[in-house]
Parts: sequence; C-alpha cells; structure tokens
Amino acid sequence: MRQIITILVSGWLFLAGDAFAAPLGLPEVPVPADNAQNPAKIELGKQLFFDRRLSADGTVSCASCHQPGKAFTDGRPTAVGIDGQVGPRNAPTVLNAAYYTSLFHDGRADSLETQALGPLTNPIEHGLQDVGPVLELLRNDADYRRLFRQAFGSEPEEAEAAHIGKAIASYERTLVCGDTPFDRYLYGGDHSALSSSARRGLRVFRRKGNCANCHEIGLNDSLFTDNRFYNLGVGFKRLKAKFARFVTVYKQKAAGADVDPASVFDPRERSELGRFLVTGKVADIGRFRTPTLRNIAMTGPYMHDGSQKTLEDVVEYYDQGGEKNPFLDPAIYPLHLTDQEKADLVAFLKSLGNPDCLFTPGRFPRSEPKATGSPFSPDISSF
Ligand code: HEC
Ligand code: HEC
Repeated sequence: MRQIITILVSGWLFLAGDAFAAPLGLPEVPVPADNAQNPAKIELGKQLFFDRRLSADGTVSCASCHQPGKAFTDGRPTAVGIDGQVGPRNAPTVLNAAYYTSLFHDGRADSLETQALGPLTNPIEHGLQDVGPVLELLRNDADYRRLFRQAFGSEPEEAEAAHIGKAIASYERTLVCGDTPFDRYLYGGDHSALSSSARRGLRVFRRKGNCANCHEIGLNDSLFTDNRFYNLGVGFKRLKAKFARFVTVYKQKAAGADVDPASVFDPRERSELGRFLVTGKVADIGRFRTPTLRNIAMTGPYMHDGSQKTLEDVVEYYDQGGEKNPFLDPAIYPLHLTDQEKADLVAFLKSLGNPDCLFTPGRFPRSEPKATGSPFSPDISSF
C-alpha cells in the first residue's frame, strides 16, 4: 500500500518535472518524451485496465490475466481469454514491466504504448474487431470524458487508438515494485534483511549458478534482466516433429519463394519459435527474453509456456543444463548444485518479493457497466 502511494506521488513528481524517487533497488522509470505522466492519465489508464467493457462479450479486462492479487499474473500455465480460449503463453507480471526495453516473451512490442493495444484485438484475448468500442467508451462515458480531458487536454471526440495505449502505459509505469528483503540487504545496508540461506543463495546466483549472467544484479539497482534473448530449450520439443519440414520451407524462402516457414506449425507449436517470429533469423529460434525475477515467488507457474510449476522445478531445470537442442545457449549447462545450494537458491529467489505491491480489493475502480450492480469483476473480487 505504502508502495502504491509513493507511486502515485511519483506521478505528481513527473508532472512537476522532478526526478522520480524510485523504490529502493530500482532505477528511475523511463518515461517517453511524448507521454509524460500526469495523475489524470494514470487514473484513466487504471480504469481502462480493469474495465471488462473492453472486450467483445464484456467478460475480459486486462486484469483478468494480470490480477493484482497474483502480482499481476493469472496463476495459470498459459492464459485463458474470451470464450475460455487457451493461449500458448504464460501471462507475465506487469509489475516492473516499465523497465523492459521490449515487451512480450519474444520482445515483439517496443513500448508499453504499443503493447497495450495488442491484447484488445487479439481474437483469443479481448476479442475486439478493432479499438472502435473503446473509443466509443472514452467519448460517451461521463467519467472517461472527464478523465480524458484532464489527461490529454483535448476533447474526447478526438480520441484515437494512441490515447488508449498512452493512458494504459502511464498506469503501468506506476506499477513499480522494489524495496524487497534483497534490496534492503544489498542497497539498504540491512544485513539482517536476508536469512543466511538466502545470503548463500545470492552467492550461488552470482557464481556457481551463473544466473546473474542474464538476470543482472547492478551496483545501484537490479532489474534481474539484461533485456536480451536466449534459448534455454523450454518448450523446444514442441518443434521437433515438424522441424525438418520447417527447414525445407525456410530454404525455399531463402531462395526467393513467397512462403512462410513458421506456417508449418500450428499456433501452439509456432509460439516456440520465440524471437525468430520477430527477426526471422535462424539464431533466434527458441530464444525468449530474460524475464525479471522480482516478485517471482508470487508469479508461478514459470517460463513462457508455464511448464515449470515451482521455483524448485526451475532450479532443477537449470541444474540439468536445460533441454538439449541445437540452439541451446552456451551459458546454460549442467550446474551440479548440491541439495543445499538448490535450497539456498530458492530461498534467495523468495527474497525478491514485496507483498506490499499487491493491492487490496477495495481500491479497485469500477470495472462493470453501471447497470450490473457489483463494482468489481469476479476475477478481482475473488481474492
Ligand atoms: C487473455 C489473457 C490476457 C489479457 C486479457 C491481457 N493479457 Fe497481457 N499478456 C498476456 C500474455 C499471455 C502475455 C505474453 C504474451 C506473449 O509473450 O506472446 C501478456 C503480456 C503482457 C505484457 C508484457 C509483459 C512483458 O513481460 O513483456 C504487458 C505489459 C501486458 N500483457 C499488459 C496487458 C494489458 C495492458 C492488457 C489489456 C489491454 C492485457 N495485457 C490483457 C495475457 C493477457
Ligand atoms: C543464458 C541466460 C540465463 C541464465 C544463465 C539464467 N537464466 Fe533464468 N531465464 C532466462 C530466460 C531467457 C528465461 C525465460 C525462458 C522462457 O520463458 O522460456 C528465464 C526464466 C527464468 C525463470 C522463470 C521466470 C518467469 O517469470 O517465468 C526463473 C525463476 C529463472 N529464470 C531463474 C534463474 C536462475 C535461478 C538461474 C541460475 C541457476 C538462471 N535463471 C539462469 C535466462 C537465463
């Protein structure tokens, strides 16, 4: 709660042009020059984030899959959208997403502004044909009209898709979460903030485990990501059966044919191509962006396909050197950790959370059409 208040205050600080007082262990939140934070814009984005009217049948909001009580994830292996349709990927947390240099597991969106528009028209997420219905809401709902004017200084009649992205992104930039036991230990000078097991785990994380190679720890702050893409072999087996066919079509394309090698796979399998889907480069096959590890104990199951249930499972996966495949990153190899080292590593990972970052239900904005009574959607009020 304290966190959130600090965050909202920081919105004002942005407005005033002052430096942003980021929580302990995190750097300033980068804000693009053409989308300065202001309180009305943050509030507008928050309303949109929780509003289920932003979906084809009124059942899905951003918060359906990014639930505040689950550290802005949904607790499922892969996300479930409109009509119960199951997608191929795990819903990542939105906490601290403001620090990523690219969004989505494969980095296909380059800003929070563009990312926010993706789910709205994704047929298995919000399922809208286009953002028209959202623009209608901004123009016709009295609360939205007021907020829109304050946020952008223009009339709601002028609302465009870009405004939706900007407002939601502004809200997401307030969802920063630091000041964890780890931060208090490393940056706050509080030696007792970590248990001795977690302290040993930090050492394994940096040295024998090689984890900090990708989940970076900095001198003044830590994002636990280097924003790069790696192949760990997660989900790679879904590509195996059709891989030879894929290579054939890839070669045809390289020779000038108008074909799409990724189309040999069904959507679930195709997802496993990872970064390749964005760049078309062979070296990017099965590569995914290093995710932050902040609040990791609250965001399971893990990996882009949700295939690892617990942190113990993840550590076991790394200990075995990932899943072998021709594109496996050289930084992934058998670690030969002892049982104690594994337990210490897990204790360390658990020190990266701050429960204050979970909201309480009473704080949510209206997310239903006024007529339907309950102010909160079930997915939000159920925790
Ligand atoms: C049906 C579930 C679902 C809904 C609804 C949904 N998301 Fe997501 N979100 C996901 C999944 C799954 C991913 C990862 C997709 C991928 O990498 O291909 C994701 C990724 C993201 C990311 C990127 C995080 C990162 O680590 O790169 C952000 C930010 C985000 N969503 C915000 C939103 C916003 C804003 C909305 C509403 C406009 C929304 N989401 C609606 C499931 C959902
Ligand atoms: C070569 C870079 C690299 C190294 C080394 C590495 N990671 Fe990762 N880590 C990643 C990437 C990339 C992912 C996402 C993979 C995916 O989704 O398929 C990931 C995912 C994870 C996840 C799941 C995150 C989530 O939100 O689902 C955890 C936990 C994790 N790593 C912990 C560790 C630990 C502990 C170590 C050391 C034993 C380690 N990592 C070493 C790059 C790395």
